[in-house]
Amino acid sequence: MGKKSKINYKVFIRLLSYWKSYKTLFFISILTTVLLAIPGPIRPKIIGQMVGKYIIDSKNPNELLFWTLIVIGLLVLEAGLRFLSSYFSNLFAQSIIRDLRKQLMSHILTFRIKYFDKTPVGTLITRVVSDLEAITEVFSSGMIAVAGELISLFFAISLMFYTNWALTLLVLLPIPLLILATRIFARMIRKSYQQEAVQVTTLNVFVQERITGMSIVQLFNRRERELDNFKEINKGHRQAHIKAIGANSIFFPVVELLSSLSIACLLVWGALKTQGKTAVEIRLEFGEIIAFILWVHMLFRPIRMLADKFNILQRGTVRAERVFEIIDLEDNIQNSGSNKNCDFDASIRFDHLFFAYNHEDWVLKDINLKIEAGTTVAFVGATGAGKSSLVNLLGRFYEHQKGDIYLGETKLSQIDLNYLRKNIAIVLQDVFLFSGTVLDNITLGNKDISREDVIEASKSVGVHEFIMKLPKGYDSEVGENGGALSTGQRQLLSFVRAFVYNPHILILDEATSSVDNESEELIQKATEKLTKGRTSIVIAHRLSTIKNADKIVVLDKGEIKEQGTHAELLKHGGFYKTLYEMQFSED
Ligand SMILES: Nc1ncnc2c1ncn2[C@@H]1O[C@H](COP(=O)(O)OP(=O)(O)OP(=O)(O)O)[C@@H](O)[C@H]1O
Ligand SMILES: [Mg+2]
Repeated sequence: MGKKSKINYKVFIRLLSYWKSYKTLFFISILTTVLLAIPGPIRPKIIGQMVGKYIIDSKNPNELLFWTLIVIGLLVLEAGLRFLSSYFSNLFAQSIIRDLRKQLMSHILTFRIKYFDKTPVGTLITRVVSDLEAITEVFSSGMIAVAGELISLFFAISLMFYTNWALTLLVLLPIPLLILATRIFARMIRKSYQQEAVQVTTLNVFVQERITGMSIVQLFNRRERELDNFKEINKGHRQAHIKAIGANSIFFPVVELLSSLSIACLLVWGALKTQGKTAVEIRLEFGEIIAFILWVHMLFRPIRMLADKFNILQRGTVRAERVFEIIDLEDNIQNSGSNKNCDFDASIRFDHLFFAYNHEDWVLKDINLKIEAGTTVAFVGATGAGKSSLVNLLGRFYEHQKGDIYLGETKLSQIDLNYLRKNIAIVLQDVFLFSGTVLDNITLGNKDISREDVIEASKSVGVHEFIMKLPKGYDSEVGENGGALSTGQRQLLSFVRAFVYNPHILILDEATSSVDNESEELIQKATEKLTKGRTSIVIAHRLSTIKNADKIVVLDKGEIKEQGTHAELLKHGGFYKTLYEMQFSED
């Protein structure tokens, strides 16, 4: 309880500040909602009068008809206003949420890779999808509806006092009890909303990971076990919801009970009042009682709704807090650098470079290396030696801690990030393909790259024929994350992707997994094509690919052990020679 039991007003006010982008829509929603609050409370007044004057003693059918039409008119008006108010407040809410979602997503896209290393994908999906859904309600049915209900409540009570103040006080007697019940209810449901928010995230994270890792789940016969885990999580999810529903199902009958109590008071009062009176006198009293019965219903409904709406606001605020946490997170590469015209046909130099993913847990130690412009340098080394890490630093996906990387005379960190990435292409070790066609995956949606460019690039890399062999050629669907293609095929596509961007610096991080002979040959040829005439770094697991490199660098446990040409290193008889002989004997 304590602090958490209240609405976080700071978050709430920040959320409300989004209304400013849609002032007109906001005012239309407010106006229609305020207007909607008026006809409702007037109806009992008219009906009461009708009962008193024309129904019990029906000598004046024309007037009765007139007033009946007025009541019908009011109902039609109310229906119309209800439609407008609901339409505009939802339009208002959805417009705001669209903006918020865009803001959230574009912010997430700037985060460093490090953030994604430690945040489950399911968590982010929950933020972008279901959290924003809950926030929508704050604007659509929460905030504006609360204002409407309050106005309607105020208006009804005024009319009641105006009609008969003593009777009004009488029917209001159970209200303190109602307020008490509401408070208890609000507290109960608040807790379950908080639990619900946590449960939804847990569920999303679980489902997302299991489906992504489906082959592992099936391969290791984890189905039963995972299903058990899922049952547990699903149970938690159900409990959180059931708690909320339980609170509702206790609360609403209590409200009914209290409103019946009001009506009972009313009837007792009526009975006492009409004792020993003439029929004419009773008539007016009777009309008043009818009006009050209708008002009592009208009174309890908004109070009941207010408790509910308060919870919607609360739930939205709990979720908004989590969304703002992400929006406020400055986990992007802060100092992007401003240099937009440095020369990329220059050498790359690592100068006493140290890097760790986690504090001082060095993955790269004191790296000193110069890669001359236009040459090809190959990295070899055992798995986990730090080859991919070095490449990640060049693309500035991570920031190094000590030392520097230079491009010519310019520090890498001073170069504008977009400019840098436009000029360096990296074929990552884990090729990621988006669901879509082969063509889409090569151009990545860049309109400047035409179909002809892609075909030409594929031809020069030597994979055009392979692509044409696919069911629909360049328009074949690759499936989610390229599921419909083999590892080798995916890698070839990513080669074309790099080639078509015609970068100054090219980095190829070869996939570890073995590929079939045909693909291997294609990959080898493509590598030669790609690296020709530009500064290239090739990480190879098959040494045959890199024999011709201008320089081969052997990395071991984050340190450079040897460097030189193929011939030099073999002559030197160190680590590289052992590695080479090992592979040679395997083949
Ligand atoms: N995102 C990360 N967060 C923390 N540690 C990481 C991360 N990525 C890699 N590492 C660690 O950094 C070290 C170097 O990994 P790296 O991926 O650079 O090796 P590699 O030489 O590319 O290996 P491989 O030949 O298997 O691709 C490893 O010990 C690894 O555990
Ligand atoms: Mg690697």
